Amino acid sequence: LCRMREAWRCLLGLCLLARSASPASPQGAANPFAGQQMPPDPCYDDAGAARRCIPEFINGAFGKEVAVSSVCGWPTSSRSCSMVERGEERPSVRTCQICDAADPWRAHPPSYLTDLNSAHNLTCWQSENLHTSPNNVNLTLSLGKKFEITYVSLQFCSPRPESLAIYKSMDYGKSWTPYQYYSSQCRRMYNRPNKAAITKQNEQEALCTDSHTDLYPLSGGLIAFSTLDGRPSGKDFDNSPVLQDWVSATDIRVVFSRPQLPRELGAGEGGGRPDEDPMVPSTSLPAYFYAVGDFQVGGRCKCNGHASRCLKDKEGKLVCDCKHNTEGPECDHCKPFHYDRPWQRASAREANECLPCNCNLHARRCRFNTELYKLSGRKSGGVCMNCRHNTAGRHCHYCKEGFYRDMARPITHRRACKACDCHPVGAAGKTCNQTTGQCPCKDGVTGITCNRCAKGYQQSRSPVAPCIKIPVVNPTAMVSSSTEEPADCESYCKPVKGNLKINMKKYCKKDYAVQVNVLDMVTVGDWAKFSVNVVSVYKSRGEPLKRGDNILWIHMKDLACKCPKIQMSKRFLVMGTSETGPGDSGPGGLVIQWRDIWTRRLRKFQRKEKNGKCSKA
Ligand SMILES: *[C@@H]1O[C@H](CO)[C@@H](O)[C@H](O)[C@H]1NC(C)=O
Ligand SMILES: *[C@@H]1O[C@H](CO)[C@@H](O)[C@H](O)[C@H]1NC(C)=O
Ligand SMILES: *[C@@H]1O[C@H](CO)[C@@H](O)[C@H](O)[C@H]1NC(C)=O
Repeated sequence: LCRMREAWRCLLGLCLLARSASPASPQGAANPFAGQQMPPDPCYDDAGAARRCIPEFINGAFGKEVAVSSVCGWPTSSRSCSMVERGEERPSVRTCQICDAADPWRAHPPSYLTDLNSAHNLTCWQSENLHTSPNNVNLTLSLGKKFEITYVSLQFCSPRPESLAIYKSMDYGKSWTPYQYYSSQCRRMYNRPNKAAITKQNEQEALCTDSHTDLYPLSGGLIAFSTLDGRPSGKDFDNSPVLQDWVSATDIRVVFSRPQLPRELGAGEGGGRPDEDPMVPSTSLPAYFYAVGDFQVGGRCKCNGHASRCLKDKEGKLVCDCKHNTEGPECDHCKPFHYDRPWQRASAREANECLPCNCNLHARRCRFNTELYKLSGRKSGGVCMNCRHNTAGRHCHYCKEGFYRDMARPITHRRACKACDCHPVGAAGKTCNQTTGQCPCKDGVTGITCNRCAKGYQQSRSPVAPCIKIPVVNPTAMVSSSTEEPADCESYCKPVKGNLKINMKKYCKKDYAVQVNVLDMVTVGDWAKFSVNVVSVYKSRGEPLKRGDNILWIHMKDLACKCPKIQMSKRFLVMGTSETGPGDSGPGGLVIQWRDIWTRRLRKFQRKEKNGKCSKA
């Protein structure tokens, strides 16, 4: 028996099986340093890159409870006889036994299917005598989660059944699919051809074979179904979803349909065992029951290459210890926020780990978009949801409307986006340039937030056009052009044009006399508005004039006729009366280019006026 088992192992090449079926070694014995040092995670290489990892190969049935539809000696003890081989002797000796579920020495409970399989203490589960109970007997094993099954094997204590079927369930026993049939009459029993060829087209189909139907051995015979054996895509398992599905199961069921018929066996007499029943006819069947000493389901906890082990969760359910940003009982989907590419099973070449969405630390959720993924050349399909910190976009990578990038901070910063603060009146909208922060200004408005009038514009009261254009006149052209002087200038300007003299009489008539520096000019309607700097004040009656910036209005007509003739950045003496308005060059006004000799003269007039000279004049 022992030799046979070893032979079979070599056949399937399952070296790991012996180890996993052996009792657990005392904890820590394998690695005396366990607990002192984190063992390297098999799901990542030394550089920290993800790589495929798989749970160890185990006998998933070991120690598990198997639900059986029949067990001998229950509820009442029963007697059954079987032929046993002794040495080379064939046919063999008949022995009969009492089976009593209540007596540990005479019981054959289903736990014997999955206990430690030892040659020295062979324990067998045994069905009820099939003379008196249905031939259909089921063994059902729940693995508790999806496994990838490599083989299902049964080692019999009775002759191997004539017909049996192995089924698998992928939904915890709700539905069953046939895995493999064994029968000497495949067509009749299971409506399948005997030993059909497996092609790429029917890889996921249960086959039927009669290869096991020899009566011998009477005990110790084996039936082993290897899930991938002979299936063409088995060599390229990584790329065969069909076979990946084929090997997946949560439950395995074995249905014995018919015991072996003792064709050649009839004269099975002999024995002499004390419990032999002389009443059983000598032509009795060799063992009219099913008995199995070892039921194995070899495979790995199914984690799709994303976990190196399975653990019991809080509710005691077996689950994968998922890595690679995956989750689910079989690491069969991506963890939240890791939807940058679709979930994929790991292969030997590619770990296919789930990748986080790139949201620049501004979003906690994202979703996958197939179109974007395709457009990116199958690289990235994550779309961030609910971007925070005033960001927007697929990756929360720019500022939302009304905000702009603060280039001093990285995009991942909480305050990477600053409010535009566009002026409610000056700006044409609330959205500024994403990079510069420039608000869209209304016509004539300037400034980052559109808070002031541009050059050549002045403020108005209208919210629609807060800055209105001042028609541009070329001051130098206006002042210096003599050719385009209007024809009626002679009469218009007289007597001001020409030789200007100031005397005490003129001085006394004016309300003010100041020396100004002309800085700038803009035109407003028919008027030229000069920005001037008052350098000295010689006279100021009524409202006092101060040194500093002031405004000088001159009619365009006067300017065109060069009365006065004003040039930029030159100094002028401005005299006038209050009636004509300050700076008004009209009839009472006087604007003449400054001459330094006037300083003394005007000081003299000033003194004379103080001494009452003006009132006399
Ligand atoms: C044989 O196995 C059974 C069940 O596993 C156990 O109860 C019994 O003690 C074993 N007997 C010996 C002699 O090891
Ligand atoms: C045995 O298995 C077959 C096939 O899955 C099923 O139809 C039948 O109900 C099972 N019988 C018992 C007693 O579990
Ligand atoms: C924002 O300003 C930059 C720099 O001036 C310019 O290149 C870009 O075109 C502007 N963007 C928009 C949308 O106006």
